[in-house]
Amino acid sequence: MKARPTWWRRPWVFPLGALVTIFLAFSLPPYLSLDPDRSRVPQPEALGVAHYWTLVPHVLFGSIALATAVLQIWPWLRARHPAWHRRLGRLYVFGGVLPAGLTALVVGAFTPFGPVTRASNVLLAALWLGCTLAGWRMARQRRFAEHRRWMIRSFALTASIITNRIWGAVATITLAPRLDTTFHGDEVLFGWVVSGVAAWLGWTLPLLAAEWWLERDRSRSRRLRDRRIPVQPDPVVAEPAVAGNR
Ligand code: HEM
Repeated sequence: MKARPTWWRRPWVFPLGALVTIFLAFSLPPYLSLDPDRSRVPQPEALGVAHYWTLVPHVLFGSIALATAVLQIWPWLRARHPAWHRRLGRLYVFGGVLPAGLTALVVGAFTPFGPVTRASNVLLAALWLGCTLAGWRMARQRRFAEHRRWMIRSFALTASIITNRIWGAVATITLAPRLDTTFHGDEVLFGWVVSGVAAWLGWTLPLLAAEWWLERDRSRSRRLRDRRIPVQPDPVVAEPAVAGNR
């Protein structure tokens, strides 16, 4: 039997945990202060200060989703502490993604960063809720292979909040020299374009990567299964020519 690799042979959990910790340490303070003036997102006129009070729970529940997601995909925790995997799974779905996704639908629909970002936010929130609830249902029905597939998609969407910020920085740095030419000095338009690029690349690329990973998995197990099936002898060659067979 093949030995299961131990946790220290899976070093990706620690860099990922460190990345999430740094992200949360940077993101949370303006929302823990409960001071609307410290929000990093300008208040859209249609919502006023209600925008901030929707953003605060979004950020707090989103943080729970992000922290529990890292623990949930850690193979060591799943293998050694299945009861914790179940408990943290419920926290991920009902104390993280569900409230963070519903509030994301509201702040997403009223984003001050333009229609391209709005479309991305609303679609992402709906997919995030959909994939996560599908994964939870599959686990309830003990269809664990499908549970795993939906939760890998859900994880990719949860983690996309970090890649979004990376694309935002890349787009700002590469497009800033064009502010006075391509954007005619219009900082609002510049902000909308940077935000739109970050919003769409932020989640579509991780989701495509997750699909590629799942497909690779699927074709690998198909190959293994094909190798295990013994080759059937060709009936025409193998069977002796019996008069009654013809
Ligand atoms: C994956 C689904 C998510 C969607 C659709 C979403 C959507 C949004 C939206 C619409 C905003 C307001 C900015 C804007 O108008 O564009 C926002 C802000 C924010 N979200 Fe999310 N979010 C998601 C996941 C998360 C997660 C998992 C976290 C983890 C902590 C998070 C943390 C934040 C923070 C900190 C802000 C405030 C912006 C800032 O201070 O940089 N979001 N989100």
